Amino acid sequence: MQVTRTSRMLRKTLLGLGLSLALTGSVMAATMADERPDPHSYSRPDQVTVTHLALDLKVDFDHRALVGNATLMLEHQREGVDSLVLDTRDLAIDKVETKVGDQAWQQAKFKLGDDDEVLGRALTIELPAKANEVRVHYRSRPEASGLQWLTPEQTAGKNQPFLFSQSQAIHARSWVPLQDTPQVRFTYEAHIQTPKGLKAVMSAANDPQDQDGDYHFEMPQQIPSYLMALAVGELRYQSMSERTAVYAEPSVLEAAAAEFEDTETMMDAVEKRFGEYRWGRYDLLILPPSFPFGGMENPRLSFITPTVIAGDKSLVSLIAHELAHSWSGNLVTNAVWADLWLNEGFTTYLERRIMEDLFGTDRMRMEAVLGFEDLKADLERHEAGDTQLAVQLAGRDPDDVFSNVAYEKGRLFLAWLEASFGRERFDPWLKSYFDRHAFQTMTTDRFLVDLDKNLLQKHPGVVSMDEVKAWIYQPGLPKGHPVPSSNAFSDIDNLSAAWLKGEKAAHELPVKNWTTHEWLYFINQLPRDLGVARMAELDKAFKLTDSGNNEVVHSWLKLAIVNDYSTAYNRLDQYLTGIGRRKLITPLYEELMKTEKGQAMAQRIYREARPGYHPLAQGTMDEVVGKPK
Ligand code: BES
Ligand code: ZN
Repeated sequence: MQVTRTSRMLRKTLLGLGLSLALTGSVMAATMADERPDPHSYSRPDQVTVTHLALDLKVDFDHRALVGNATLMLEHQREGVDSLVLDTRDLAIDKVETKVGDQAWQQAKFKLGDDDEVLGRALTIELPAKANEVRVHYRSRPEASGLQWLTPEQTAGKNQPFLFSQSQAIHARSWVPLQDTPQVRFTYEAHIQTPKGLKAVMSAANDPQDQDGDYHFEMPQQIPSYLMALAVGELRYQSMSERTAVYAEPSVLEAAAAEFEDTETMMDAVEKRFGEYRWGRYDLLILPPSFPFGGMENPRLSFITPTVIAGDKSLVSLIAHELAHSWSGNLVTNAVWADLWLNEGFTTYLERRIMEDLFGTDRMRMEAVLGFEDLKADLERHEAGDTQLAVQLAGRDPDDVFSNVAYEKGRLFLAWLEASFGRERFDPWLKSYFDRHAFQTMTTDRFLVDLDKNLLQKHPGVVSMDEVKAWIYQPGLPKGHPVPSSNAFSDIDNLSAAWLKGEKAAHELPVKNWTTHEWLYFINQLPRDLGVARMAELDKAFKLTDSGNNEVVHSWLKLAIVNDYSTAYNRLDQYLTGIGRRKLITPLYEELMKTEKGQAMAQRIYREARPGYHPLAQGTMDEVVGKPK
């Protein structure tokens, strides 16, 4: 597995080299490439920027295609710009037109560049002088990396097909030709036609009324391309409060609305501390179980996995997280993917503050410890360079560098600042940071300037810039980093030790009031070589194989694989074919692949499960398990 991954990386590096070699053929082209402000986009927003997008698309389930056109409004950043470069991946371009002021549309010359495995293809359009509108007529391909087309069988209702997009990090280009870099912000409108009986929703103002196949959307706030989002399916609407509602398939609607009823209170909590919510409504869309992420912070409409509907609100930190992105990420946006920690670290920090405000310090501390455990595992697993907050990403696929470092090390860094300065000084800085940079992009360098000027220098002698830089540019964790702890978990440690030593039987453990977090901690801390007999003892006492909590079952199944506890294998099979959330399925496949017996099982299950997975999850699992022949 390690080998496949390394060789894929090597191939990518070589491809990257090939690309730059090809470009040096022309000095001009090489210079252009060097000046690209974002290594993950072909676009040149320093020359001309897209300020508004108008989409007109038909959703064709039969051909798994979005078909129509995208009109882009342009703002020239310098004189004499004669071309516009857009990002595309697997798009079929039919025709391009340009427009100057009020003049008629004119057919334009365009060229699709070579296909790069990571970046896709540059679409270079010849621009007449002062052209301020471009219209691209195109269709997406069935294999678009940013779309998943589901058959009715893959939905909860089994009646209607379903489509959803996932644009972050660089997949928007697989369904819209655009400047696919977080440095460009634009407003958008869309006209989306769907088969009758289906409802379309977008990361925009949504109309809860059904429009029977003909939908109009408007997004008045400027957003970066990775927040473009569309979903189509048999969707219903249920209001939760003045500003919040759920969209979901009919059979999950009620459970979702009950699970996430605290969303408005979460909004109030952030607003009180860190400034107003600037996006109007905040709704949730519950996706089918193959959604490859836990959640995605699409503005006004977060996309949410159904795997967190546990029935007891135990996994709602996910909502706190996606909501928090309305400040960190959607309002103040990482300028390049190497600075992902500016989005995810800040958001994980805010997520914990929300959880503390709503559910108390004990729960927040438990979640912090669980996050810290995940971080420690990732710090061991990844190369030193990838354990810095600001990582080196040029020439690499942003999806390949994804880990808990941006999230939990980023969060720990902010928690360290908070502890050093005290909330009375830290909170006002953070609030003003969102204000100062609202609707703008942020780099690690500019963050440092802001922090220095508005926090460090205002309160001299608390922390030094060198200490701050160690957090950001050094691998691992700096000396004196905070260590999250939880009294509830210390109790679990003692009970677990007593059980392991045989001083207590499993059924004597006082689990009645254990929360999901305590169960997670208990299972994750058990010795990996527990043995089948002890697994069976726990299972008999607590029915863990049958647990309905997807996180708890995940931890339990991982232990089951290590111990070859075959009683759980039916459940494992059902779990891996039933859900497609990468964070939950990847570690299970990885664990299976460590033994010969496990490999056979992984391959058998994956052959069956693969067609139901999202393209991104398929890509990951192809690397872990191998592509079924
Ligand atoms: N924005 C991320 C998802 C993402 C990150 C997609 C990078 C593509 C590239 C989202 O906010 C997120 O972090 N989701 C997490 C949940 C969170 C509670 C840690 C997830 O999906 O697991
Ligand atoms: Zn996030």
